[in-house]
Amino acid sequence: MKLTILGGGGFRVPLVYGALLTDRAEGRVTEVVLHDLDDSRLYAVARVLDEQAVGVPDAPKVTATTDLDEALRGADFIFSAIRVGGLEGRAHDERVALAEGVLGQETVGAGGIAYGLRTVPVAVDIARRVARLAPDAWLINFTNPAGLVTEAMSRHLGDRVIGICDSPVGLGRRIARVLGANPREAWIDYVGLNHLGWVRGLRVAGRDELPRLLADPDLLGSFEEGKLFGVDWLRSLGAIPNEYLHYYYFNREAVRAYQQAEKTRGAFLADQQARFYEEMKRPDAAALTAWDRTRAEREATYMSENRETAGAGERDADDLSGGYEKVALALMRAIARDERTTLILNVRNQGTLAVLDADAVIEVPCLVDANGAHPVAVAPLPDHATGLVCSVKAVEREVLAAAESGSRATAVKAFALHPLVDSVNVARRLVEGYTDVHPGLAYLD
Ligand code: G6P
Ligand code: MN
Repeated sequence: MKLTILGGGGFRVPLVYGALLTDRAEGRVTEVVLHDLDDSRLYAVARVLDEQAVGVPDAPKVTATTDLDEALRGADFIFSAIRVGGLEGRAHDERVALAEGVLGQETVGAGGIAYGLRTVPVAVDIARRVARLAPDAWLINFTNPAGLVTEAMSRHLGDRVIGICDSPVGLGRRIARVLGANPREAWIDYVGLNHLGWVRGLRVAGRDELPRLLADPDLLGSFEEGKLFGVDWLRSLGAIPNEYLHYYYFNREAVRAYQQAEKTRGAFLADQQARFYEEMKRPDAAALTAWDRTRAEREATYMSENRETAGAGERDADDLSGGYEKVALALMRAIARDERTTLILNVRNQGTLAVLDADAVIEVPCLVDANGAHPVAVAPLPDHATGLVCSVKAVEREVLAAAESGSRATAVKAFALHPLVDSVNVARRLVEGYTDVHPGLAYLD
């Protein structure tokens, strides 16, 4: 079986390869094709994969190419993990927004819109090529903003594109852990959009255990979301929000902390990764060791400003490895071998949330089998959550419309309608600021 990784020179590719190395079963991936625009990044990552494969019999064979069509032909699965504009682009997304006094973050608010506007045209081009060159392949989208990008691709690939994110999995795992439940035996009642969802219940043996957690302040304050959002707010909500909702519920504090930070997250990662890729050019570099050190530092500092404003302290050691590669592997196995499982994924709504149309991509538990991912029925969201989900979906639709038409006015509308952008004038200046710094937005006029 052949797996093609787009963004194959990306820093997190070794996580995926590491997961593949643990898979010894019949029907596993035997061939990995890395595609990237940048040769030196491919070379760096291939060195890490080489070292990972040492001593592993029948490790999947790795090849690398900068030719997209060649990478796609004959693929059974395609992982898309690209970053249009690179981490420098991410740093610009953050800085332009923060200079306007609104949130500058990879996926949420103005920064997420800018990233979406740059990424959607590229993702659509990929989707079209996949439809033509590898129509039987399944495309697993990691590329952020994952919900929006998956929806853009689904217009060309239908349900053959599935978006993944590890944050709902991490959230479910943490809640199960504090409740003393085995995550494998728990049913997590989660729904929303990517980076905008809520856990409303966690059932074990048919019993909802979440009320027990909400009733116990010590337990509730003992894990990441309890520390981030505070016990009182979680009890008011009666649900546990995805960590990215911190940017909504504590927006002012998050914006201030991000403005005051020495470097934005994007700038920090840009520097960190530049050092890593530089080091990989040295023939004597210990690739896997350097990669692992860099990864550990990245994970330890994830959302550190948010945690600081909340007084949440360091991340729990158990939370450090997100498990993104495990979701990807589980999804691939379920489809390729009809190993039925349930995973929280980004798929077309198909009536799951009655307030959204059938084609809106949402994040929801899905039954996965050889026929793909099937969203399960869930209870409706409360009004406050429905309000946010509908506003943000409306913004995503404007982003998709702007990317399709090239209309600057539509791009302004996308920013202006976002609940975290507080003036149409700010939206106008954001579009100006972003088009000034991003060559990838030259299509807007
Ligand atoms: C979480 C999010 C991902 C994001 C990742 C890394 O897992 O769900 O969407 O890519 O964190 O964030 P970072 O700030 O380290 O790039
Ligand atoms: Mn994510």
